[in-house]
Amino acid sequence: MERELSLELTRVTELAALAASPWMGRGDKNNADEAATEAMRRMFDTVSIRGTVVIGEGEMDEAPMLYIGEEVGSMSGPEVDVAVDPLEGTEIVAKGLNNAMAVLAVAPKGQLLHAPDMYMEKLAVGPELAGKLSLRDPIRTTLEKAALALDKPVFDLTVMILDRERHAETISELRTAGVRIKFLSDGDVAGAMAPAFPEAGIDLYVGSGGAPEGVLAAAALKCLGGEIQGRLLPENDEQFERCLSMGISDPSKILYVDDMVGTDDVIFAATGVTPGEFLGGVRYLPDHRAETHSMVMRAKTRTIRHIKSLHYLPNKPLLRSK
Ligand code: FBP
Repeated sequence: MERELSLELTRVTELAALAASPWMGRGDKNNADEAATEAMRRMFDTVSIRGTVVIGEGEMDEAPMLYIGEEVGSMSGPEVDVAVDPLEGTEIVAKGLNNAMAVLAVAPKGQLLHAPDMYMEKLAVGPELAGKLSLRDPIRTTLEKAALALDKPVFDLTVMILDRERHAETISELRTAGVRIKFLSDGDVAGAMAPAFPEAGIDLYVGSGGAPEGVLAAAALKCLGGEIQGRLLPENDEQFERCLSMGISDPSKILYVDDMVGTDDVIFAATGVTPGEFLGGVRYLPDHRAETHSMVMRAKTRTIRHIKSLHYLPNKPLLRSK
């Protein structure tokens, strides 16, 4: 894939973030998501790819656009798989909290795992711990190995996890071990990426979140030199069958970054909607302008670009009532 694609793809996440941002703090996650999805879909028409959505807003009969199997792009250029989450953290935006972003990953056709819509158990780390831990270990062992590798006491580790009832047992083990816990309300793509940013001060991301989000995080961590390990958690026969029908013959096996993203030729782009651990949110400025903060990365070169853009906003109401 051409490196020029990076900028084209950043414009896609920028537009989605700008569309979602007016809905910040309005208690309306559906309209926020719809606005981001419409904007992202529209902008894809300008991108020089022949893309197929493999991770998107749902199945064709559930989502009007950016559904799994939809073709996107200008239909010239490389044939690619596209993974999108136009608004990662719909509830975050509705409640005006932190860490919402518009995100996508693009890789040559066949190289992104078509992750089914179910939970995935995750363990994500930054470059210092990559290759040193295993999702197979009990959490206590993982903490001990991490502390040893980072040359600090377990007590000084900071672990991020989604604040969910289903994590009660893990949280209690983390408390017993004495680590610091940073709870996430939502948005576990950002959560899994956080350990790769020293400024975020997070050593490990653990717990379960969406499997599609796991693949997006794998694309990001491949570019950042970190690691995520995942295990699908089918909750019933239907979900189990769904794994099989998607070509995942053993849903209980550990998925490594290379199982989720089978190439270095992957581009990951994200734009902050609300401020987060490593991206600023959309900021409104005088004279109908807004600033966005994006990050675009290619695993092939491990180049990480931070792009701050100033946009002139249309002189019309930003919120369209539906
Ligand atoms: P949405 O943006 O689709 O609302 O997803 C937010 C999110 O927090 C994801 O980041 C995460 O993977 C998933 O929901 C966790 O699911 P649950 O809220 O059921 O724990």
